[in-house]
Amino acid sequence: MNILQINASARSEGANSTRVANAIVARLQQAHPSARVTRRDLAVTPHLVLDEAALGALFTPADKRSAEQAARIALDDALIAEVQAADVLVLGVPMYNFGVPAQLKHWIDAVVRNGVTFRYTEKGPEGLLKGKKVFVGLARGGRYRGTEADSQVPYLKTVLGFLGITELHFIYAEGLNMGAEAAQQGFAQADADIAAAIS
Ligand SMILES: Cc1cc2nc3c(=O)[nH]c(=O)nc-3n(C[C@H](O)[C@H](O)[C@H](O)COP(=O)(O)O)c2cc1C
Repeated sequence: MNILQINASARSEGANSTRVANAIVARLQQAHPSARVTRRDLAVTPHLVLDEAALGALFTPADKRSAEQAARIALDDALIAEVQAADVLVLGVPMYNFGVPAQLKHWIDAVVRNGVTFRYTEKGPEGLLKGKKVFVGLARGGRYRGTEADSQVPYLKTVLGFLGITELHFIYAEGLNMGAEAAQQGFAQADADIAAAIS
């Protein structure tokens, strides 16, 4: 089993979402001792924004790309190859201003590639990353589980489902900025979610 852990916090040290993602991976390794883990920390190596130059490179046929355009596409290709090689994805995702961190959005913009990770058919779009599982470790200052203010979970379900990934497990560490007791409860809830999701 290949596990790919993506840490999406802007913090490379002491990130709560990374703590939850680490706990998920530890539990997966307990259940599958021979699992191999690849980690990508987007605070350490943030991916580039999908800007005009990147779109220009994407829409230029591979054999017509400049060296600069080819280098830009190669950065995205590396992220796609990591996802393709993974059986299980573990995402550590803090809530920033009610959404996912820009770092994670840039990663998503890199891996969602027409003709590679999805394609359009006469019947509509088809995800090409089938048979993978995703565990998402969510870290939040407040509590939004199951409420309309939680745009993260529906968004991740939609975009990962679009890629053909339909087995998703959400692990919640909430109330982390609501005092020490609430934070402790938040991490305890995450542990309970992990135990329920991974046997
Ligand atoms: C810029 C910023 C924006 C935040 N926005 C929210 C928010 O919209 N809702 C919330 O519940 N917590 C919010 N928080 C609190 C974080 O979700 C919380 O501190 C979380 O533990 C951060 O995870 P991390 O340590 O993995 O980065 C925000 C924190 C920061 C730094």
